[in-house]
Amino acid sequence: MNFDKNAYTVESLTVGVHTIRYRQFADLLYADLPANAAYQRMHIYAPEGFYEGESINGYTLATAPVFMPNQVGGYMPGEPAAPGETQEGSGIPNTVFCALEHGYVVAAPAIRGRVQQDENKTYTGKAPACIVDYKAAVRYLHAFAKDLPGDEEKIITNGTSAGGALSSLVGSSGNHPDYEPYLKAIGAADAGDEIFAASCYCPIINLEHADAAYEWQFLGVNEFRRMQMNLTEGGRPEFSAVDGDMTPEQVQTSKDEAALFPEYVNSLGLKDEQGRALTLAADGTGTFLEYVKAIVLESAQKALDRKTDLSGETWLTVEDGRAVGMDFPAYARAITRMKTAPAFDGLELETAENDLFGSENVNCRHFTKYSLEHSKKRGEMAPEQVVRMLNPMSYVDAADAQKAKYFRIRHGECDRDTSLAISAMLVAKLRAQGCSVDYHAPWGVPHAGDYDLDELFAVSYTHLRAHETPEHL
Ligand code: DHB
Repeated sequence: MNFDKNAYTVESLTVGVHTIRYRQFADLLYADLPANAAYQRMHIYAPEGFYEGESINGYTLATAPVFMPNQVGGYMPGEPAAPGETQEGSGIPNTVFCALEHGYVVAAPAIRGRVQQDENKTYTGKAPACIVDYKAAVRYLHAFAKDLPGDEEKIITNGTSAGGALSSLVGSSGNHPDYEPYLKAIGAADAGDEIFAASCYCPIINLEHADAAYEWQFLGVNEFRRMQMNLTEGGRPEFSAVDGDMTPEQVQTSKDEAALFPEYVNSLGLKDEQGRALTLAADGTGTFLEYVKAIVLESAQKALDRKTDLSGETWLTVEDGRAVGMDFPAYARAITRMKTAPAFDGLELETAENDLFGSENVNCRHFTKYSLEHSKKRGEMAPEQVVRMLNPMSYVDAADAQKAKYFRIRHGECDRDTSLAISAMLVAKLRAQGCSVDYHAPWGVPHAGDYDLDELFAVSYTHLRAHETPEHL
């Protein structure tokens, strides 16, 4: 592992009316003992103007924040991000392009994913590989900070869904000893893996409690609607709608899982920003439900303030232009259920998460007691410690985990991939530990990310440059 500051190319790229010039340091290996050398690498990009003494939005070669996006989705292997278009032919600059144009340095790691195998058919990308790789890449940045462009004390991770989970996890678990043996095993740099800020879109976290949270939200919605992707003969993805009703057994699972959620929420000792305890009664009602409702109501209010017509949302009560109340079960019906129960730990070991929690030799395993006990495949259980290492909730209040100061978490108001409760619980826990969390559930946004880059970069611009008070985040 090394960093040669003379090994670069200078690139120029135009998207639409925007042109950037940047210096690219390609294929930097961030592990000395790689389990998968093709993936344990990253590219680093810096605005070329920095090397000519320019500043961009006040940032210089020495002071620019280091934006660190990952492209992991579905816990699959993540390719290193590169400047370009959002989609081929869209003419819209993508996240990395915008970050460079904004005056950030960008560090874009590849990350191992759940399906990868070596030549002996040994799985090399099962949990905790994805988080270990992201941390190893952070360690590389700290180790070579002196020679790298940008300010490595200002690393900002970014990701969506599984990638948002990884971003939140790096932000919550800096330098925690749990990861040490894994980092040593891949020969990660001898440096810290703490970061400054984490940007997380719809993080798919807290997997061992996500089934219960999902059923708490969607209990009574027994019809599911989802899109299925098939590959055409030409290898192109094609989507078709799959709608159906849960089987009686799945409906029972939904009830069983929903019943597990209050005890979990109550065990967390969460409080809202006014210091009120967030709890649930056995029937799923209580202050925690009101807290989640308030997130949806705030979302609706912002939409109303933009003059969005919400008169068709019959679950929402609007008085004098104020979103004053909602019927939570009717809201869940309106946004529709995507996953059948159990949503994450599949009884047939069929989900992405079952696959994530496989081992070197076993493809898929369970990670909840409920699904282990109800397994139709006599599935094995993943080790508790590995499940814990994928959950930021395990680290937020650990004294030996260095938390990012700033979190920006976005979870679309009509996301159905995981319950809104999942991000809401993380936010409450982070705030209780003094982290500054900018949290919002944007109206009408499904499971998606990077849809508000102007705001993302403008916000961090304010506090990174002007040292604004945390309230501005
Ligand atoms: C992702 C989506 C899911 O619904 C899930 O269970 C895991 C990951 C994703 O988009 O990354």
